[in-house]
Amino acid sequence: MAFAAPQIVRGFSSSAVRNVVIKNVTIIGGGQMGAGIAQVAASTGHSVTLVDTSDDILKKSIKMIEGSLKRVVKKKFSDKPEAGEEFIKKVVQKVSTSTDAESAVQGSDLVVEAIVENLKIKQDLFSRLDKLAPSHTIFASNTSSLSICDIASSTNRQDRFGGLHFFNPVAMMKLVEVIGTPATSQDTLDSLLDFSKVLGKTPVSCKDTSGFIVNRLLVPCMMEAIRLYERGDASKEDIDIGMKLGAGYPMGPFELADYVGLDIVKAVIEAFKTKDPKNPLFDSSDLLNKLVAEGKLGIKTGQGFYKHK
Ligand code: NAI
Repeated sequence: MAFAAPQIVRGFSSSAVRNVVIKNVTIIGGGQMGAGIAQVAASTGHSVTLVDTSDDILKKSIKMIEGSLKRVVKKKFSDKPEAGEEFIKKVVQKVSTSTDAESAVQGSDLVVEAIVENLKIKQDLFSRLDKLAPSHTIFASNTSSLSICDIASSTNRQDRFGGLHFFNPVAMMKLVEVIGTPATSQDTLDSLLDFSKVLGKTPVSCKDTSGFIVNRLLVPCMMEAIRLYERGDASKEDIDIGMKLGAGYPMGPFELADYVGLDIVKAVIEAFKTKDPKNPLFDSSDLLNKLVAEGKLGIKTGQGFYKHK
């Protein structure tokens, strides 16, 4: 990953966001995704402010970033360890931390939200930030399953609001989904597409539809695999082997569900169901609900569909 200066430079106009030079990025939420987004933004020369609710969490976020950078450096600088150390130092210096979101957004060109997957909490956050962020600042949510329109409705900048959906782990995954609502301006979409490219990602565009492109296809596939197993039609092991060897998937649907987290899979399918209650692809599964109730959430708890050491 090279250290490159951001290149989003546009001409000025009075209308909204055209001309945004995305240099300063505020990321709200320093968990798995927020820390990853901070890492790639800092690695590509942006000044990043990472916000979370406590200094302890933010210390962990920085540790996460350093750990991930060490893995990057091991590959990219295998013959030049000193250059690798220097790279890590430079990137980490580009990330400052804060527990005060309202102050953090004041010098920001782009705010990317990656907090808990809860509509009301996301709306409250954006509604507060909307009053303090400069008028040119673009707001983006990394939500997996909520409607961008619903989140943006809490602000007065719906033309400067879009979805920027990264994939986990952010440093490794090349794709970013850029989501526009009917109110999102073309300039905002262009800025988000350009920003994604500057990060070294490949952006794809999608309307504000449940699950966007990837989760809309992937999560119903996981649910259908669970139903196949629940009915006793095939073992989970055979379903995983089938999809890996027959469809070329790198992971089977049960392996993937354990990797993503069964609580997340459940939350995503429930959010889809709320938007489209009659669609049988979005039906719940007793087995999935039982595992989540028992705290068997996948790799993160050591047990999901499979046991993990
Ligand atoms: P996480 O639980 O690892 O991190 C969320 C962070 O947000 C926590 O550190 C929490 O302290 C912080 N937070 C919560 N409320 C806050 C607030 N009001 N202000 C500041 N910080 C706050 O969650 P994760 O996995 O990083 O997910 C974040 C978002 O990204 C969610 O919307 C999720 O749907 C989405 N997403 C998750 C993916 C995944 O594979 N985990 C993939 C793509 C998107």
